[in-house]
Amino acid sequence: MITAPLTDRFGRAIEYLRLSVTDRCDLRCAYCIPNGFKDFEEPEHWLTFDEIERLLGVFAALGMKRLRLTGGEPLLRRNVSELVQRIAALPGIEDVSLSTNATQLARMAVELKAAGVTRLNVSLDSLDADTVARINGRPVLNEILAGLEAASAAGFAPIKLNMVVMRDNADEVDAMVDFCLERGYVLRLIELMPMGDTARKMGYVDLQPIKHQLQARFSLVDAMLPGGGPARYLGTTDGRFTVGFITPLSQHFCATCNRVRLTVDGQMNLCLGQEERMDFRTLLRGGASDDELAAAVRRAIDLKPERHDFHEQPNKLIRFMNTTGG
Ligand code: 5AD
Ligand code: SF4
Repeated sequence: MITAPLTDRFGRAIEYLRLSVTDRCDLRCAYCIPNGFKDFEEPEHWLTFDEIERLLGVFAALGMKRLRLTGGEPLLRRNVSELVQRIAALPGIEDVSLSTNATQLARMAVELKAAGVTRLNVSLDSLDADTVARINGRPVLNEILAGLEAASAAGFAPIKLNMVVMRDNADEVDAMVDFCLERGYVLRLIELMPMGDTARKMGYVDLQPIKHQLQARFSLVDAMLPGGGPARYLGTTDGRFTVGFITPLSQHFCATCNRVRLTVDGQMNLCLGQEERMDFRTLLRGGASDDELAAAVRRAIDLKPERHDFHEQPNKLIRFMNTTGG
């Protein structure tokens, strides 16, 4: 099999795959799943664990090193820990992380750790129960907090907390900083992306002014964290506190994009904000050989667009995030 690293037309090495294991979710975050959304994928279209393992094996042989499980809510996929175990064992895979809303984490943290999840990102947009109910669509703050505690107790460290900043919670950034400082979580502030009308209505907030305020409050300096994603980190010099900024709009990072995304039904999306994709389900179910799959992976990577155009075409609806895999 060919072993040159996967590099796209713009010279970016692609070594990171985000795998959506389900498009279902127990929450209805206003920026993600539109209210009343019904267009969920048919279960018979979901890639099976065998199909995922085979496809990721081909990817790994081509140089894919790191995987992240996403959703929807990945912990809602039945036996997800078994899947983690199987893909973590693939030759070439160095890291399997997971992004979760934490509602199921209290009962699953220990088994996920044992299965081989190395790092956890938890979505939490507010520490106020009413705000959580409003933004995330269900009153789940207590479940999330219990999930976070269970994750720390299971030995996950550092845990990253993802906060999407929008009009409704922009005044809660300081409270979230204090919470993370106290518990040793890494905070990551994320700019709202215009994925559909509901997301657009939540009110985009530019993170640059918030960044400057935090920088002044804590005398922050540039910091580095493992992960290789688009976050730019700042931290205190004693290392006690780190905050990351994910700014797809105010400071887009497409030039260093190292990732592709695979949906639960086997479609590879090459960019969050563009349509280019490759259908791996049809190939897998049509009897493609490993060499044919590898050739399709290379063709897919060749389709990766240079950048999103959220600025130029903010109203172009691509997909909702539960489908794409946040
Ligand atoms: N803008 C920014 N981030 C989003 N996510 C989902 N939808 C959006 C959006 N419109 C991300 C958030 C959330 C994770 C599950 O997906 O980081 O925490
Ligand atoms: Fe579920 Fe995450 Fe989407 Fe919220 S953002 S509805 S937790 S998939």
